[in-house]
Amino acid sequence: MIIHSRLKDYTVHIEENLDFLLNLPKENVQFVIDRKVYDLYEKYFDSVPKDRLILLDATEENKILDTALAICEKMTEIPAKRNMQLISVGGGITQDLTGFVANILYRGIKWIFVPTTLLAACDSCIGGKTSLNYKKYKNLLGTFYPPDEIHICARFFDTLSEGDYKSGLGEVVKFNIMEGEDGLKKMENNIASLLTREKEKINQFVLSSLTYKKKFIEVDEFDRGERIKLNFAHTFGHAVEVVSNYAIPHGTAVAMGMIMADGLSCKRGLLDEEMIKRSEKILLQIIDIDSTVLDVDMEHFIKAVRKDKKQTDSAMTAVLRTKQDLTIVKDMTEEEVIYAVQYFKDLYQRKHLLLRRR
Ligand SMILES: NC(=O)c1ccc[n+]([C@@H]2O[C@H](COP(=O)([O-])OP(=O)(O)OC[C@H]3O[C@@H](n4cnc5c(N)ncnc54)[C@H](O)[C@@H]3O)[C@@H](O)[C@H]2O)c1
Ligand SMILES: [Zn+2]
Repeated sequence: MIIHSRLKDYTVHIEENLDFLLNLPKENVQFVIDRKVYDLYEKYFDSVPKDRLILLDATEENKILDTALAICEKMTEIPAKRNMQLISVGGGITQDLTGFVANILYRGIKWIFVPTTLLAACDSCIGGKTSLNYKKYKNLLGTFYPPDEIHICARFFDTLSEGDYKSGLGEVVKFNIMEGEDGLKKMENNIASLLTREKEKINQFVLSSLTYKKKFIEVDEFDRGERIKLNFAHTFGHAVEVVSNYAIPHGTAVAMGMIMADGLSCKRGLLDEEMIKRSEKILLQIIDIDSTVLDVDMEHFIKAVRKDKKQTDSAMTAVLRTKQDLTIVKDMTEEEVIYAVQYFKDLYQRKHLLLRRR
């Protein structure tokens, strides 16, 4: 797959097995690898010289400017400035940090990214966004700088924790639900195989997710118009992340955000109940959370919605589903936010009551 970007065209390769790692360039290269991934897949990196290897603790606390600068400093030791490359292997945290470094070092160097989480593979690896946290602000600093090459191999997902795997599924389900009836049907037919991590299915859905996202980023690379629709479920999702203190991973928060957004769509008469029930049935299979995380003061939640980067003025904005498409509503009220959260809580509670009765 080729992604056209105003910065550079870049390619996505789907790899059958991990042997491609052995063929990655080694000359004038700095590897930055998620420490957990390195420990699990060390034998594939045997031939990387130790002085060309940085291991990264993939935590939000580490996704900061200081870490980026430390990588830059280490890279000044490589003599060939013009031909140097960065190869990063890891999830979204590794991607955000190394993309930022590749962009600012010598005003941009070549960069290869190997996503090792489902979330990074099906979504964040394309689109070119890089983000760092600053003080208490998540993703406050950032640029646009896509990699030159992306190599995706579903074998990496075998070792993901259940929580991180299901978080990735959150974004997969989001792309399909956004597509409408056809996407929803595809999800209904395949969610069981995805939950058991069937490689062929994963590859199929990673590709269809990226194909769907590609349409938006190619027409609105810098997120000024049409791309905002990809923010479906994220206004609520980001607020869930904030009030849970980031204990809920991104894709899971997005899955919860979808239920909230759809609850609101239904209330506004934008979407049929039948369609919503079908999506909820899928979404509830990938959401496993401590239900007390939403027992927060709603003022705190609303404040988090208002702080979302996509909000532009005092009225609240959200992307909602309609029968045919998606719509951007710019007049979401506080009562509606409270309604949507309560809608999710009631539904989630009912799921647990049912499970307990079995
Ligand atoms: N740039 C973008 O467009 C974009 C989009 C969405 C999210 N993000 C960012 O991505 C981050 C979340 O990324 P993520 O969910 O991909 O995960 P992550 O990088 O936070 O990794 C999640 C966990 O999985 C571990 N891990 C990674 N690969 C593994 C593997 N193959 N086997 C076992 N463990 C593995 C990591 O060490 C970590 O503990 C957030 O910081 C978010 O802000 C960026
Ligand atoms: Zn997302």
